[in-house]
Amino acid sequence: MPETPPYQPPQLTRLSVGRMGKHRVLDVLAAPTLDARWDVAALLEKFGSPVFLVVEDVLRDLYRGFRDTFTAPGIRTRVAYSYKTNYLPAVCAVLADEGAWSEVVSGMEYALARALGTPPAHIVFNGPYKTHAELETAMGEGALVNIDGFDELDAVEQVARSLRRKVRIGVRVGVRHGAHGWTKFGFGYEAGDARRALQRIARARHLDLVALHSHSGTFNRDPGIYASSVKAIIELARLARRLDLAPTIIDVGGGFPSSNRLKPAWDTPGRRAETNGLAEYADAVLTPVSRAKDVFGGTPTLILEPGRAVVDAAAFLASTVVAVKNEPSHGPAVVIDAGVNILPTAYWYDHPVEAIVNDRTVGEPRPTRIYGPLCMQIDVVRDRAPLPPLKVGTPIVLSNVGAYCLSQSMQFIQPRPAVVLLGKEQAEVVRRRETWRDVFALDVVPDRLRRAADAF
Ligand SMILES: Cc1ncc(COP(=O)(O)O)c(C=O)c1O
Repeated sequence: MPETPPYQPPQLTRLSVGRMGKHRVLDVLAAPTLDARWDVAALLEKFGSPVFLVVEDVLRDLYRGFRDTFTAPGIRTRVAYSYKTNYLPAVCAVLADEGAWSEVVSGMEYALARALGTPPAHIVFNGPYKTHAELETAMGEGALVNIDGFDELDAVEQVARSLRRKVRIGVRVGVRHGAHGWTKFGFGYEAGDARRALQRIARARHLDLVALHSHSGTFNRDPGIYASSVKAIIELARLARRLDLAPTIIDVGGGFPSSNRLKPAWDTPGRRAETNGLAEYADAVLTPVSRAKDVFGGTPTLILEPGRAVVDAAAFLASTVVAVKNEPSHGPAVVIDAGVNILPTAYWYDHPVEAIVNDRTVGEPRPTRIYGPLCMQIDVVRDRAPLPPLKVGTPIVLSNVGAYCLSQSMQFIQPRPAVVLLGKEQAEVVRRRETWRDVFALDVVPDRLRRAADAF
């Protein structure tokens, strides 16, 4: 008897097609679009294809919108931008210019924040691994170090003793949210580790507990996650006060969603695919904090560490169709010159796609697979993008690529593209395009293996 294939539930993908400007075809109505005053073909011509485009005004607007949403009377709101999301120095500099603090998770990021002029008091140092030397620098300079666990608490106490003065520290609390929560980080709340850490800090002569921190995941679709974290932090702050500690800072981390669209397989069942905005998240944080100001000394400082929510929609990836295919199994497909090595987020997002077509008589959109240029079958940048029949040379713009693309991109098979900052008037290169020599700049071929014609 032939084997029956396992039941596959049907998947419905909404193909919404809108016209943007005269010649633009876009597949997600709510997605950010590159302002039509920027001539994509001309940018590709000038800076090479592909090219990342960061729109400065959008970045500033996203930051301001985020900050204002989380602002309430009697609470000092501070936005510490999560460097790892996109530590392109120009992006960090724009956000610093807006007043953002820096949230860093390594000595490298700490050094970058300092090199870009961030005062140590405006740096939040998180993460599960900080070397002794990094702790010495950060604690010595007065940054806020959020301790991740008991071993790090030992190290921090040692550094504080050697500095011979009281140093400001925070405690990262791991609150469980559902079966698949982030369990790697912080002192467990439910297991009582966070309480034990506070008791130990209360006995340590050189530690000044100023902050309680909890970051609960990324692209969190449920504002209730923040409500439970804040509840746990408030309870711990009360305990801290009973232990004669005086925290003034509540840090709820990042994890707020952007306007990107998760692939159905990653999305929360039953929830709308589009983001509703951040108001519900702000309410989940601000309402309980407003009611518990006393446990943070009267005027709490609220630190937020957004990454994707403030940068994702500010960046676009412009690329070019290099081949057109028709696959027997999938139908129409195109190959573009930008792949998953520079767009790793394509594995879990359906990035909005726009084709810049000159011909008004282009055909009807049909679900089109977009491959990148890598010699790998998994190099699929987008599936079922509703695009009209395209020709080689057509510019393709992918949106919502500001988060985790540049910082997680790699030189796999292809060097990485330039990044251009689109300001009010000018387009400025903020990262030059790599050459093959850049990729191999750190490598050495031992003399004994060199050949006569070796130009390496
Ligand atoms: C401690 C911490 N803060 C902030 C962030 C930023 O997260 P997101 O980009 O989801 O806002 C992260 C990312 O995982 C993080 O680990």
